[in-house]
Amino acid sequence: MSEDYSMTSQDSRVQSMFNRVTRSYDKINSLMTMGRHAQWCREVARRADLTASGRLLDIATGTGEIALAARRRYPGAEIFGVDFSENMLAEAREKPGADSIEWEFADAHQLRFEDESFDAVTHGYLLRNVSDVERVLWEQHRVLKPGGRVVVLETSPPRGVLKLVLSVGMSVVLPLLGQIIAKDREAYTYLKSSTLGFMSPAEVAAVMERVGFRDVDWATKYFGTNVIMWGHKP
Ligand SMILES: C[S@@+](CC[C@H](N)C(=O)[O-])C[C@H]1O[C@@H](n2cnc3c(N)ncnc32)[C@H](O)[C@@H]1O
Repeated sequence: MSEDYSMTSQDSRVQSMFNRVTRSYDKINSLMTMGRHAQWCREVARRADLTASGRLLDIATGTGEIALAARRRYPGAEIFGVDFSENMLAEAREKPGADSIEWEFADAHQLRFEDESFDAVTHGYLLRNVSDVERVLWEQHRVLKPGGRVVVLETSPPRGVLKLVLSVGMSVVLPLLGQIIAKDREAYTYLKSSTLGFMSPAEVAAVMERVGFRDVDWATKYFGTNVIMWGHKP
């Protein structure tokens, strides 16, 4: 998996969409999760289980909420927040506490960091946006030290009766929120299709195990629509 990565047209589309929705991102995220996103970011930081002076990499950091939650929990840690949207990174850099975090441009398919250089890797809502889920998880495994932890926040496709209710709800509510708040209906139509069409936690866990993570497990949130997953590198 060491060959150079060239961005696909899907990557470029996702990148330009996040560059467009930056200003409204936090507001819509908070509305869509009924304010629970902040709580989930704290849980992701807690499950990273960093030592006082550990090193944590938050990939697809966006407006930096997970990296900042980790900063508050581990004041002595070295924290990096990376993303391939310059506009999202610019928003993150403006937040209180941001000065003590290293913010960098990076594509999750190809990280510049050395092998075995982090104690924990975290990410929120990255996997459903990438072209190659296995490569992205393989990169995370590569940069983690043995014993290091990965913690993932993701959406999870609804199942059973909820599937119909949420599919209809999301088809109406998301594009509408996008139009009213972000003035970008298309971006939030994409959010609906990427959420409903994404892998289940069991399918993601299978890929995590294939790249080498062990003791992979997860906790679903919010009627099973979101999930926090974790594992470690032996
Ligand atoms: C939905 S936002 C999540 C932001 C943040 N993690 C959170 O929980 O609020 C998804 C982020 O993933 C980033 N992203 C998507 N694909 C990426 C890739 N291949 N490499 C780096 N960042 C990526 C986007 O730019 C965007 O900032």
